[in-house]
Amino acid sequence: QLSPIDKAKFVAAKKAVDYVEDGMRVGLGTGSTAAWMVRCLGELVREDGLKIRGVPTSTRTAELAREVGIEVISLDEAKWLDLTIDGADEFDGELNLIKGGGGALLQEKIVATASDQMIVIADAAKEVGHLGAFPLPVEVIPFGWQTSRALIEEMLISVDVLGRDVTLRMNGDHPYVTDEGNHILDLHLGRIGNARQLAMVLNQIPGVVENGLFVDICDVVVIGHGDGRVVLRD
Ligand code: A5P
Repeated sequence: QLSPIDKAKFVAAKKAVDYVEDGMRVGLGTGSTAAWMVRCLGELVREDGLKIRGVPTSTRTAELAREVGIEVISLDEAKWLDLTIDGADEFDGELNLIKGGGGALLQEKIVATASDQMIVIADAAKEVGHLGAFPLPVEVIPFGWQTSRALIEEMLISVDVLGRDVTLRMNGDHPYVTDEGNHILDLHLGRIGNARQLAMVLNQIPGVVENGLFVDICDVVVIGHGDGRVVLRD
């Protein structure tokens, strides 16, 4: 018996795999919702003979995909993808997203951008009027990360946000390290007035590799509810 939140994630994932067709190259997202999607796809591969190749967005997802029987290839082998299915931490009415709560934002953004279509799967609690209550993850290279943080804090003074705290994500006593060997700064902004502008100015700071704002990337959000209902936004 699944809890309402897991049921919501599961029904969204199950609905999203309907979009996957034989022969597709599929981007496989990261996180607890995306993990349901990878398991559902694995079942279709094993039991219905669905033929797909998957490009994972993290080492975690790669392991799970192999475990459930999905053929895993690199993005460079795939070159371009038909579809990416991934979770999100927040989405707004324009289908802009905050991602990276699970730390995989860099590969997730590269993979989603290299796809004809991006479908987001999420439980209803992820829908917001304005992005920003969820801390915005920003991936920075370890070299000079404190300087990068200072530059981000200075930049935040001139953009439309409510809060300006920037914290280094930790893993126990050590800074969290991404699959690409970088650190993550979480920006506690409360409310983001202009996501497109913020995404651009963040990426102009030299030590910043990528930020977790996905603007104009997502095409459809499949929203799961705890009672099993699924609603589409596009
Ligand atoms: C991973 O880096 C994130 O972008 C996830 O997609 C996001 O955090 C959603 O995760 P859950 O499905 O576990 O909420």
